[in-house]
Amino acid sequence: MLSQLAVTALLGLTASAAPWNQGGWNGGNGGDGHGWGGNGGWGGHGNPPPPPPENCPQEPFKFPLQNGFPSVAVGSPQLLAIEKQAHGTLPNGPLPSKIQDATATTLQLIAFNEIFEVAYFTSLLNNITSGAYNVGEGAAKQIVINAITAVQGQEQLHALGANAILQTAGRTTVQPCEYVFPVADFDSSIALASTFTDVVLRTLQDALNNFGTDGDDELLALIGGVIGQEGEQNGFYRNIGGKIPSQLPFLTRSAGPFAFSVLNQMFVVPGSCGNLNAINLPIFAPLTVATKNIQAQDQDLSFSFKSNGTSTDTSKLHIVYINQQNVPVVEPLKNVQTQGETVSFQAAFPFEKNLMYGLTIAAVTNSAGPFASADDVAAKTLYGPGLIEIQ
Ligand SMILES: *[C@@H]1O[C@H](CO)[C@@H](O)[C@H](O)[C@H]1NC(C)=O
Ligand SMILES: *[C@@H]1O[C@H](CO)[C@@H](O)[C@H](O)[C@H]1NC(C)=O
Repeated sequence: MLSQLAVTALLGLTASAAPWNQGGWNGGNGGDGHGWGGNGGWGGHGNPPPPPPENCPQEPFKFPLQNGFPSVAVGSPQLLAIEKQAHGTLPNGPLPSKIQDATATTLQLIAFNEIFEVAYFTSLLNNITSGAYNVGEGAAKQIVINAITAVQGQEQLHALGANAILQTAGRTTVQPCEYVFPVADFDSSIALASTFTDVVLRTLQDALNNFGTDGDDELLALIGGVIGQEGEQNGFYRNIGGKIPSQLPFLTRSAGPFAFSVLNQMFVVPGSCGNLNAINLPIFAPLTVATKNIQAQDQDLSFSFKSNGTSTDTSKLHIVYINQQNVPVVEPLKNVQTQGETVSFQAAFPFEKNLMYGLTIAAVTNSAGPFASADDVAAKTLYGPGLIEIQ
């Protein structure tokens, strides 16, 4: 499929008319012929990611890269090549010799995520340059290749940088996993990149919070630099997807456990990680947003989760929405139905009162709150995150 989105947006023909939001990443997900590409659990556009399929598996992405990543030595020609590709260097000042536990966990999550992102953008770039993804011809194609090539180098430096801080401080560095990507066309792949970048950006707010409160404030400016960098990336992904580049005045807050959970739920091949247990964060059970193409209006949304065999007292559960920098919104579950292990329900989505544009993180909690912050929500979460994106 020719990517009309990329071509249209990049050549500036009728960028605003790009039919992205409608067809979107849910529309494009089903086409890999393996029967499991259409799951798109992100953004409330589909079902949760399935367990790794047994019948017709996607070949998982495995490290190392040809240049040895994630094992790249300081001062090596490989690192220099990555830096050239990334249009810049790793920070060259001294690193802290000691960091707090919360800082170490946060940096491990950052490394875990950045290594995944290297996998994702390596696969995406291969798909573009091999012609598997048709992004048009000429200038438009070159703009995409230039952007993703730089990103693929930059994410390697983010990952190497996070692991370097951990190592210098005598902490456990993060090893890669094997990954699968539930997308098989360019438009879906860019939309998914936009959503996980969204989640990561929000989680870096957590890093600032942790480093600022636990005394590791020498790392604050570095994280601020990475937040801006990921924001620039996301502006590009949103723009070629026909969305406005800057989605909200104040980006949605998240918390480390939500990012860690969604990466594991969606991309990581279970059991394939080098040292997953070294990262002291919970992995929640998945929450599926069943309503598709969610519009900017008040409505009831449909959700489901799989209870794990224990009978769940659903009368004690609530759904919580985290959006922008606002106090989390708590709603009761309605029309709860249990079929086998699957619990489905509806809940009000009070869009108008809260103008819940951009990313909303939904979580099923065992508490009615009130919750002061995303961290408070994470502490009471059983199922989540459900990711809702409204243009
Ligand atoms: C690259 O293409 C393969 C084959 O269609 C697909 O399975 C994979 O998800 C794609 N990767 C990305 C990041 O889009
Ligand atoms: C089932 O899930 C609940 C909530 O996530 C958890 O507290 C409980 O330990 C789980 N039970 C089993 C058997 O996994």
